Amino acid sequence: MQPLNLKCVILLSPVFSVLTTNNTLCFQSLYQYNLHAIMTLLLISNMSFCPFFDFHKPVETAIFAMNSTHMRIDIITALPELLTGPLDHSIIKRAQQKGIVEIHIHNLRDYAFDKHKTIDDYPFSGGGGMVMMIEPIDRALADLKSRINYDEIIFTSPDGELFTQRMANQLSCTENIIILCGHYKGVDQRVRDHLVTREISIGDYVLTGGELAAAILADAIVRLLPGAISDEESALTDSFQDNLLAPPLYTRPKEYKGWKVPDILLSGNDKEIENWKMDQAIERTRLLRPDLLQE
Ligand code: ADE
Repeated sequence: MQPLNLKCVILLSPVFSVLTTNNTLCFQSLYQYNLHAIMTLLLISNMSFCPFFDFHKPVETAIFAMNSTHMRIDIITALPELLTGPLDHSIIKRAQQKGIVEIHIHNLRDYAFDKHKTIDDYPFSGGGGMVMMIEPIDRALADLKSRINYDEIIFTSPDGELFTQRMANQLSCTENIIILCGHYKGVDQRVRDHLVTREISIGDYVLTGGELAAAILADAIVRLLPGAISDEESALTDSFQDNLLAPPLYTRPKEYKGWKVPDILLSGNDKEIENWKMDQAIERTRLLRPDLLQE
């Protein structure tokens, strides 16, 4: 495993006291860093004011990168066309234009060593399907690593750890990551054993390739970077950020085909509205994702 290239590790206790590995960072100086650092601290520690928050939970390790306002994501793929669309629109496109994130897509075939640009071969074990070869992948990774220090080299695979909001929070605190898209029947095991630092799956189903998974990872990570979405607080109130689904939202008109917006939302009573939102979030989670309340 390659060591994480994070600038600091913070321990966050439930009573908000902050200690650092070298004890030089106090809460006040922590505040001088950016909102993202503080937000991430809250997100990673999974704090919430909901009744399910367990104040007796052991002190949790929160990792955040100070000044992590710029991130670089390199994606290595055999099918770059599959990625240009999803990552070239809306929030992710604007985040790139604002210089919050750089996303570089590399064609694995550019690292093939024969004139046919071969990147896969038959498995020694026989059977159907082609296997991605180690040499082009190693060359691609070596080329990137010769210029940049990477925090993580992620391989997208249905066998990997299940991608969660917590993982997205953590990855949004890194500076440079590589995502290697799996393809064909699989990849030479030596890539998994020696070249990547982690494997991530986006769900228990098999896609034709890892490109859509890579796009999902990048999207979930980039929208958490400071400045990527206009209202930073909205990343905090996402479903899953505190293991609760988001409460329902309404906008005009107040009534449509006899379907009314709940009176409480029109009352102007902020405190009551906040309580209502929390009740709704808990109720929806109980109904739709009771497993989240067990975690
Ligand atoms: N490649 C194929 N299926 C996948 C999945 N479920 N998650 C990540 N990468 C994949």
